[in-house]
Amino acid sequence: MRFSHRMDGLPPYLFAEIERKVAAKKKEGVDVISLGIGDPDTPTPPHIVEEMQRQVADPVNHRYPNNKGLGEFRQAVADFYKNRFGVELDPETEVFPLLGAKEGIAHICFNFLDKGDVCLGADPGYPVYASGPILAGGEAVPVPLRAELDFQPDLHAIPESIVKSSKLLFVNYPNNPTGAVIKNDFFEHLVEFGRRNDICIIHDNAYSEITFDGYVAPSFLETPGAKDVGIEFYSLSKTYNMTGWRIGAAVGNAEVIESLWRLKTNMDSGMFQALQRTAAFAMNSSQQCVRDMCAIYQRRRDLVTGALKEIGIDVIPPQGTIYIWVPVPDGYTSASFADMVLDKCAVVVPPGSGYGPSGEGFVRISLTAPDERILEALDRIKENL
Ligand SMILES: Cc1ncc(COP(=O)(O)O)c(C=O)c1O
Repeated sequence: MRFSHRMDGLPPYLFAEIERKVAAKKKEGVDVISLGIGDPDTPTPPHIVEEMQRQVADPVNHRYPNNKGLGEFRQAVADFYKNRFGVELDPETEVFPLLGAKEGIAHICFNFLDKGDVCLGADPGYPVYASGPILAGGEAVPVPLRAELDFQPDLHAIPESIVKSSKLLFVNYPNNPTGAVIKNDFFEHLVEFGRRNDICIIHDNAYSEITFDGYVAPSFLETPGAKDVGIEFYSLSKTYNMTGWRIGAAVGNAEVIESLWRLKTNMDSGMFQALQRTAAFAMNSSQQCVRDMCAIYQRRRDLVTGALKEIGIDVIPPQGTIYIWVPVPDGYTSASFADMVLDKCAVVVPPGSGYGPSGEGFVRISLTAPDERILEALDRIKENL
């Protein structure tokens, strides 16, 4: 086969590689505990599943969906943003459904990047911040997140020549993989940076509802001027344990939303309307299920940070996300520690370096396994250190 050159620069997806290794172990009969991919282990709440059953049975949902997204879904997202963040969105022009935030991240690169154009992406960061730009024919430039700057990029440290070539920037808070939450007035700086340099800012808001200790995460769109310079991707995946359902939304700048809509109407035919209706129902219903889930993750977070302390690894408990960002013990790299943990303990933890060069020296623990499995995994690691 004569594949395109763009495939040459595309690495295998981080978790595809991890899944391959795990499958090999399982084939040998090993009891593998995965603290790898951030995929909730608890099911979608029953009221949402029941609504989907009703919607699937309704023939009105069986035909091609409206290509702009159902008005009902767009209105529900606008209402959610108004009630939750105090952000006004026009459901006609400022909301567009996505088959998950991941899809939006990859596709938006095609709206902005030509050959030679740069996309700035948080490093460490969600891997598609790097692969999306490569697919679109642009260049991905990592902007380091360092603990001493609260895992926020130093926008002044980006070389002027890179800034001049940049058209897009990806950030995400609460942050995967570091668990960091937004501090100070970083979003204000980001708006100013986007405006001054004509760079579209994309805030990937996949975890705003997964927070602990009373912390409430903001939307980027709460920041004055944010809608002038960018958009936000919202995802229902983690909020309602709906990772397998594939639904999210792009919200914000109407010109960017229109461009994304034009691109996507030429690529896919929208989203199953039963799903859009059910998602609207989930957003309009009681959010108690989200609070219950956060309580589970907070308990697991405390279990993990406590167990790590016993091993001699100190981490600051994160206020959001489903991840603990763990420095590897002396003498290991991210990859050698992750390999050791898989080979000797049959525990999957992704190496921090898989999230970008600045992730070196860390591994990420996901809280998406039952308490007893998490504790067993940490026991196994303790025994092998
Ligand atoms: C930061 C971040 N963005 C986007 C996604 C993907 O979200 P979705 O399931 O909506 O595609 C994830 C999933 O883990 C994520 O961690």
